[in-house]
Amino acid sequence: MAKRKCIPVAVYGATGYVGAELLRLLAAHPVFAVRFVAARQARGRMLAEELPPLGAWAEGLRIQGVEEAPPEEVALAFLALPHGASAAIAARLYARGVRIVDLSADFRHPDAKEYARTYEASHPHPELLAEAVYGLAEHARKALAAARLIANPGCYPTATLLALVPLLRAGVLDPARIVVDAKSGVSGAGRAAKRELGFSEVNESLRAYGLPRHRHQVEMETQAGLLAGVRPQLRFVPHLVPMTRGMLVTIHAEGDVRRWHGVLTSAYRGCPFVRVLEEGRLPATKHVLGTNRCDIGVVPLGAHTGVIVSVIDNLGKGAAGQAVQNANIAFGLAETTGLSSQALWP
Ligand SMILES: NC(=O)c1ccc[n+]([C@@H]2O[C@H](COP(=O)([O-])OP(=O)(O)OC[C@H]3O[C@@H](n4cnc5c(N)ncnc54)[C@H](OP(=O)(O)O)[C@@H]3O)[C@@H](O)[C@H]2O)c1
Repeated sequence: MAKRKCIPVAVYGATGYVGAELLRLLAAHPVFAVRFVAARQARGRMLAEELPPLGAWAEGLRIQGVEEAPPEEVALAFLALPHGASAAIAARLYARGVRIVDLSADFRHPDAKEYARTYEASHPHPELLAEAVYGLAEHARKALAAARLIANPGCYPTATLLALVPLLRAGVLDPARIVVDAKSGVSGAGRAAKRELGFSEVNESLRAYGLPRHRHQVEMETQAGLLAGVRPQLRFVPHLVPMTRGMLVTIHAEGDVRRWHGVLTSAYRGCPFVRVLEEGRLPATKHVLGTNRCDIGVVPLGAHTGVIVSVIDNLGKGAAGQAVQNANIAFGLAETTGLSSQALWP
């Protein structure tokens, strides 16, 4: 069989948690070949020194500044940068014809006014919003195949929407009575030093944050509306838990609970990364650690009430894993390419 030609790629924000996870996945990818890595403070330093977990694979790669242009041959760029900083770089690369997977929130809101309200800043490139495909991969395969700019979903939205979208679409869940009780590991907040994220403050402690209206709530309501045709009202409460990575979302809802398991099972039949557990079985974050998987458990509680529990690795299916899955689809590769690893356990 003829060997497939490499596709040269760039990773921006390479020294952050998401950037590092992207590089870990790309190091084992048979088609995407990393040719350019960029960050801000580590500009000019060697990647192997900045990220020892990447081992010898990273030797020879020097970190460039985010304002620098990647080599001409680069056909795909992953942007693992903070929102606000990402859009300007995306616009420059887009104009050059580079395909982009943006992991920030900059292209997840189709409406510039909603973005401005949510992120308290006007959108730097509103003209590109209509070009972006929201990359909840299992629900966007067709649009992704032609996408030049992919907005990779947030981590809470990924875990929540994979559970909610099929049920809302099938009309078996009351869109006005949904509580999303969510927990994230600390890597969800990124690598930049923040006092309240230090070991002594996070370890052996549990806290809610982001109330009354976390930014991901707007993303979830908007995208559920677009994907399912019904805009739900969510009561969303995120929590920080003392673990490094992993995310668990417990959805309390009402509706035709006896149909939930069947609807979810048929929605994800043939989807390699979403597993609907046997009814009554519950998932755990450790079962998806380091993978691109989402495990979903469904438990009816009464005649009309039940819970759905969804778990992902926030850096895997919640960020870098789904970004590679989306890029695979956009470049016509099997969506599992480079993503076959099972969970790290125990
Ligand atoms: N962490 C998660 O679980 C997760 C999940 C889904 C989506 N995301 C999104 O993915 C993006 C990256 O998140 P992360 O957790 O990897 O963050 P992070 O660990 O803080 O890394 C951010 C990266 O961007 C660079 N950077 C920071 N500020 C910059 C600026 N103003 N201009 C250019 N580069 C800048 C950093 O370089 P320096 O260190 O040199 O400044 C670093 O390489 C964010 O938009 C985040 O919301 C994160």
